Amino acid sequence: FGRVVDFHESIDSTNLRARRLAEEGAGSGTLVAADTQEAGRGRRGRSWISPPGKNIFMSLILRPDILPAKASMLTLVAALAVRDGIESVTGLSPVIKWPNDIVSSGKKLCGILTEMSAELEGIHYVVVGIGINVNLEEFPQEVRDTATSLFLETGGKVVRSQLIAAVLEAFEHYYEEFISQGDLSRLISVYNKNMVNAGKEVRILEPTGEYKGRALGINEKGELLVEMPDGEVRHVISGEVSVRGI
Ligand code: BTN
Repeated sequence: FGRVVDFHESIDSTNLRARRLAEEGAGSGTLVAADTQEAGRGRRGRSWISPPGKNIFMSLILRPDILPAKASMLTLVAALAVRDGIESVTGLSPVIKWPNDIVSSGKKLCGILTEMSAELEGIHYVVVGIGINVNLEEFPQEVRDTATSLFLETGGKVVRSQLIAAVLEAFEHYYEEFISQGDLSRLISVYNKNMVNAGKEVRILEPTGEYKGRALGINEKGELLVEMPDGEVRHVISGEVSVRGI
């Protein structure tokens, strides 16, 4: 992956750029990266802080031969790859907050935004957008309590190209495992081992209401299994839900 790189000093959003390239036929594994984004996008319509010279903003175009229903696992695969890449380059061992936030001391280091163009029978393309807070020393007031960077966590600066290479290497490894094997049990257990919510009491906030239970781990579709007090196990699908600790 990343053998074809489309780099920009400044772009609206690497995800939007990757989607445009994918529509024009760009191949699987194409990487879009930018030093800064003018309209960086987060999940649920939020914006993503994208100052120049500090952080990583990148999007990978993928064309996996899988059913669209299985695609949400791709985001979890990306989360594992970012976690491993960070650990190998900095020695810091962040955790994953289901489905795809990378967290250190309870604050967010990385966010992932996956977008897909698909029909019922197959996927045209998937864009996995990854934003990592690398060398940023200070966050705007409104996210100071919830966001952090590798610099703030370790006190050291990271060479961004090194981290990108480490993340891509890990991603390639997990991606191959994901698409080549019917059996996802190893991936699932690696994910669950690195997921901060596993075994903990969680509050699930859905647009229609909220409930509490104990997070057990993910299944092969990437859904979070939550055990209710009466023993019923609910399957939580990422998207409109938000998971909180108690
Ligand atoms: C989140 O809300 O947690 C997801 C944030 C995803 C941000 C990245 S930065 C690179 C890519 N381009 C975007 O516009 N968003 C993603």
